[in-house]
Amino acid sequence: MKRTELRNLLRQMTLHEKLAQLTQLDISFLTSQTESELTGPAQRLPSGYAARRELGSVLGGTHAELSVSLQRQHLEESRLPIPLLLMADVVHGFRTIFPIPLALGGSFDPALCEETCRAAAKEASSAGLHVTFAPMVDLVRDSRWGRVMESTGEDPYLNAQMAAASVRGYQGHDLQEPGRMAACVKHFAGYGASEGGRDYNTVDLSEGMLREYYLSSYQAAAKEGAAMFMTSFNTMNRIPCSANSHLLQDILRKEWGFDGVVISDFGAVMETIPHGLSADAKEAAEKCLRAGTDIEMMTTCYLDHIESLVAEGKIDETLVDEAVWRVLELKNRLGLFENPYKDADPVREKAVCFCQEHRDLARRAGQESCVLLQNNGVLPLKKSLKVGIAGPFASSKKLLGSWSFFGYEDRTVTLADGISEKTGPDKIRIAMDTELGSLRKGETDVPDDIQEACRVLADCDVLIAAIGAHPDDCGEAASLVSLGISPHQEALVRAFRQTGKPVVSVIFTGRPLELGEICANSDAVLLAWFPGSEGGHAVADLLYGDCNPSGRLSISLPRSVGQMPLYYNRANTGRPLPPGAKRGSFVTGYLDCDFGPLFPFGYGLSYSAFRYSDLQISGNTLPLQVSVLLENISDRAGTETVQLYIRDIAASVVRPIRELKGFQRVHLEPGEKQRVCFTVNREMLSFYNQELQFVYEPGEFEFILGPHAEGGCAARIFLE
Ligand code: BGC
Repeated sequence: MKRTELRNLLRQMTLHEKLAQLTQLDISFLTSQTESELTGPAQRLPSGYAARRELGSVLGGTHAELSVSLQRQHLEESRLPIPLLLMADVVHGFRTIFPIPLALGGSFDPALCEETCRAAAKEASSAGLHVTFAPMVDLVRDSRWGRVMESTGEDPYLNAQMAAASVRGYQGHDLQEPGRMAACVKHFAGYGASEGGRDYNTVDLSEGMLREYYLSSYQAAAKEGAAMFMTSFNTMNRIPCSANSHLLQDILRKEWGFDGVVISDFGAVMETIPHGLSADAKEAAEKCLRAGTDIEMMTTCYLDHIESLVAEGKIDETLVDEAVWRVLELKNRLGLFENPYKDADPVREKAVCFCQEHRDLARRAGQESCVLLQNNGVLPLKKSLKVGIAGPFASSKKLLGSWSFFGYEDRTVTLADGISEKTGPDKIRIAMDTELGSLRKGETDVPDDIQEACRVLADCDVLIAAIGAHPDDCGEAASLVSLGISPHQEALVRAFRQTGKPVVSVIFTGRPLELGEICANSDAVLLAWFPGSEGGHAVADLLYGDCNPSGRLSISLPRSVGQMPLYYNRANTGRPLPPGAKRGSFVTGYLDCDFGPLFPFGYGLSYSAFRYSDLQISGNTLPLQVSVLLENISDRAGTETVQLYIRDIAASVVRPIRELKGFQRVHLEPGEKQRVCFTVNREMLSFYNQELQFVYEPGEFEFILGPHAEGGCAARIFLE
């Protein structure tokens, strides 16, 4: 539709109709036939039912037929021909589920991330969805927070690359193109810094910290053209984010030039009341709209109160018009005025959802995301060995992780399926495979069938423990104060160890866990995260060496939960530990725990071995080249993720001991050498000074090229 026609449409709208465009309710509002059928939060909404004909968007939608019929009914019933937007959380896949974002981040492969988002958009748009509440780009450092699983990890640079790739994957160049959908970046901002890892909790960050670490991924997504942003539940420096004009106006709109739609998180406008910012729903509406939240999700403060606020002269209707205009523009960008059903098509839906191409992609994504933490040579396994598998994930289909409710869990490839395809069914024994109960349901462990398991698996050559955390205990509202593996799972691995047979532990989880004891009792440890629909295939491919592990940690793994928050790009402090030391007197660290992570950010083994040597810096002015000689010193071809870190030795504000500034996945044949080269420019060495200007300061810099955040070849240079 031409912009003049769109303007005309806006002019014809009543204030009430405008406010309905700024209101998003659950799909049950439209699917239920009578008011009494409404359930859950829908029931509590005072004016929701009456507004159903005018609503601008709904949360939810599952299949094409439903989407088409809803849209048709909506257009028939509404006074003006304004199509409905269907939005939902397609976070790591729709029907085909890809590894959780925390795992995918560890692929260090933005192109792969883009492909998975593209496939997810193809599936979801064929079911009639127009907007996905993804990517989630919150930087995470505290694994007590269940939502670490939705993020691509602890690093601002990696997160920014993944955020941009996700937006490209969902949206492409043109939202009207079939198979594309609008991306809603969330949660703006700093949700990952919730105090104590407690979900929905307070966030207080200096402006310097906010910019330095947390904002880069949101900014990258905005720059890539993301159509929408979602506010976060938390406060940011004492103001709830949905009412935070510094975030929404000063930074997002003015600094970054974002002109898309801002939506609140679920109920977050109303939640400014319990936050203690708004006295009542009317004040909540006024504060959030003024601050820049265009659409209110799941409550009706706008719909109920803005008309009177306008009548009282407290809100200028042009503010409402601006917000509505952005919503109409999004609908127009999606082409909904010409084609309100967009890609919703039962035939296409059947063809693309869970198709072989997407499953193959999920398998590849799984292969690239699992992290080999430890291996004394027991892996890869020979297919001729008789293998025993025990533990709650041995034959479980619960490998998808949170935000996979559209996925086909029943079609998930289990670990036992994947392994049995390698060995043949008669070389595999399964024991003690009762699934974990979730803490949410008050269940804390699996039954202790360890003795029996050891008896059943007595004639096996190798033992695999498939252990971890329940998917429902990782995700939203899943904060924990303990990151241990449950006692019976740990005891299983100990018992396996005592058999004297080789022990391989495969860990399924949505968050870092304390793995010290598991590592001590295992010959090999593979961190599978929640690997998605093809999880069993991907893990088996890696265990049997049909594919060489290349995944890296997108987040540091702790020794103890007490180390939280834990991250590699920390400041040195005035009393760092001496190099190589783990503890010390009157230095920064703990008395009862070694310093540093169990495994650092960026870490991950493969079946190949790589040597880094001869770091060279060419040039002494910016931009310059930093390179290292990488050699595959093993007899297996493999992929190494070479990481470039920098350190600014002394500056006007304290700089982190290392910052990731680049990475490359390099494939080398056995014995092959390659010089891996990075260009370093001024921007990469710049930072926010005390006045919050993004500046470059001359001085001494260190460049490190290596396999993870605690290793590599380093050299220093003085730069003007
Ligand atoms: C979550 C968001 C999500 C929204 C809609 C909220 O509870 O925080 O991430 O997009 O629900 O499902």
